[in-house]
Amino acid sequence: MLFTCAPKFRLPSSSLLVFRRYHHVPGTSEVSAWMPEAAGFGGVRDRSGLQDFSVGRAESFWAAAARHRLSWIRPFRTVQDCDFSRGHITWFGGGRLNVSVNCLDRHVQNSPERVALIWERDEPGSEVKVTYRQLLEMTCRLGNLLRRRGVKRGGCVTIYMPPCPLAVAAMLACARIGAAHNVVFAGFSAEALAERIRDAQSSTVITVNQGVRGGKVIELKKTVDTAVQSCPSVQQVLVAMRTENPVVMTARDVAMEEEMLLEDTVCEPAAMDSEDTLFLLYTSGSTGKPKGLVHTQAGYLLYASLTHRYVFDYHDGDVFGCVADIGWITGHSYSVYGPLANGATTVLFESTPVYPDPGRYWEMVQRLQINQFYGAPTAIRLLLKYGDQWVHKYDRSSLKTLGSVGEPINTEAWEWYHRVVGGGRCPVVDTWWQTETGGICIAPRPSEPEAEIIPGMAMRPFFGIKPALMDSEGKELTSNNTSGALCIAQPWPGMARTIFNDHQRFIDTYCRPYPGYFFTGDGAYRSEEGYYQITGRLDDVINVSGHRIGTAEIEDVLNQCPAVAESAAIGYSHDIKGQGVYAFVVLKTSVDIQEGALSQQLKNMVAKGIAKYACPDCIQIVQRLPKTRSGKIMRRVLRKVVECDLDGLGDLSTLDDPAAVQEAIKGHCDLCRKEQVQ
Ligand code: WTA
Repeated sequence: MLFTCAPKFRLPSSSLLVFRRYHHVPGTSEVSAWMPEAAGFGGVRDRSGLQDFSVGRAESFWAAAARHRLSWIRPFRTVQDCDFSRGHITWFGGGRLNVSVNCLDRHVQNSPERVALIWERDEPGSEVKVTYRQLLEMTCRLGNLLRRRGVKRGGCVTIYMPPCPLAVAAMLACARIGAAHNVVFAGFSAEALAERIRDAQSSTVITVNQGVRGGKVIELKKTVDTAVQSCPSVQQVLVAMRTENPVVMTARDVAMEEEMLLEDTVCEPAAMDSEDTLFLLYTSGSTGKPKGLVHTQAGYLLYASLTHRYVFDYHDGDVFGCVADIGWITGHSYSVYGPLANGATTVLFESTPVYPDPGRYWEMVQRLQINQFYGAPTAIRLLLKYGDQWVHKYDRSSLKTLGSVGEPINTEAWEWYHRVVGGGRCPVVDTWWQTETGGICIAPRPSEPEAEIIPGMAMRPFFGIKPALMDSEGKELTSNNTSGALCIAQPWPGMARTIFNDHQRFIDTYCRPYPGYFFTGDGAYRSEEGYYQITGRLDDVINVSGHRIGTAEIEDVLNQCPAVAESAAIGYSHDIKGQGVYAFVVLKTSVDIQEGALSQQLKNMVAKGIAKYACPDCIQIVQRLPKTRSGKIMRRVLRKVVECDLDGLGDLSTLDDPAAVQEAIKGHCDLCRKEQVQ
């Protein structure tokens, strides 16, 4: 089956086509000095030769990388066994290893006192450093506690915590004893948390008494209490103390730190098969039900480690600052697994970009001497508006590479990041990837150090990645200067293996739309020079401040309101957030309600049902929604209405009732005038 609704490909806006090129100082191009595992790749002379080799002779490339970078308990026998048509993906078959040993023990052996984590707590200047030795000790105590409390190899532990050393220890403790972790972003509501706990069938939840962010206290334990009421699988909740305020503890709750102190500091690591589950991570798709993507041990860790090393040009001794929350894949791969596998010092950022003021990031860069800074375009756009003085106040000379992730970075934000934050010295890497891909797939680096970087473009595939653009008939587009649905044509070790408990959905979503390819759900443009630029989602997924949310998830919540007959949520361009949510609702005929109050009620429902970030900025009440004759809501048309792009309404011939569009336009204009949404 092909992608059913023919994707519309957006060409990049003209501003993105104004390419300015940046060149950086040449460095060594001696391939094997730069990448030791490449020593055996005869005939490979430079980094682009290495790229060709990694794709053309993928098995040799990945086998060498896996032997070199990972410590194995038992060597693997096969490199890969993959068949996209069945969604069957296996890497490093027969191999055994333990991820926590790879992230901790082997570094403790060489440099126990090296700092593994810098916990950048909410209050600036109150950071806490944790060495590899201490992190291993914490992980072992927690691993033993989990084991003693009945968590088995193959079980699943849900972690609902802000970024902090104990959260990392919890992830690694699961890895140590062979349980999967399921980290849920601590901004999700009780209902969203409960849904993820139930789907993952967790019997154990780990949380903190309270979170602290932007100077505010967040009642995380209370949220867990509410959530577990509807989770019969949960037998125990381990509670760590982030603040000194006591919380109500029930018979089900365990004082985590107190019990950890009773445990031994040595914990036997489980010998895991390469393809055992390492973690589940829920993300939004185009139905109302979030999907629990499954990542496994060896392939994921190898891919996170290799991308961390080469995309950011990480070197031994560098301080790596990824400011993403551990509740997202970026936090998993680039705050935790990639850096720790490489023995790096990694920052865990608990605060916000504007707390206590818009200089926070750069004051932190100066204080912690951060070498690589990895953040989201939405924060860059926000800080840009506050002006350059907040950046100039601080010394950023430690910075070597700047990274961007989660959504397209517009040229203005890219230029500011490069020129003001990086002082024109640091390569900016716009990294494209997804929860599904496990690690960065397209980014300007690695390439020769002097190779050009074009603003706002992810540009070049990573080692072993073979992107493909498909047309609406499902044929691969082979020429340049063309746009299509972005697929990846051959497997790579970091890719997700399945959707937890729903392999068929995995096949239908990623493998069936373009048989023989992995479909990403994104559209992309390939330039004349062969560089990639991501143009946005092709499905009903909205990207709000770099966070994915499905329109169906929002609509499901809105439709639960007794006054609402039906609704349509869409994403529209938003200056800071990238996209904002806008909802159209049709009320039941008998309802007589005050619009402002209803609007507020609906927003509260979304915050309670999902998370604050998913709340519509604006709710417009309409008599009817524009639909096709077969009854499908035409969200494409509504999006154009909200973006005031009436010329772009496109083909309306399948529309059932043209008056619905006119009504939406008029209502939107009235609202714009009233609320000045745009
Ligand atoms: C979008 C985040 C443009 C894209 C790592 C993708 C991007 C979705 C970029 C994945 C980028 C991520 N340029 N778009 N550099 N990076 N995206 O799963 O639509 O939270 O499919 O993973 O974010 O979001 P996810």
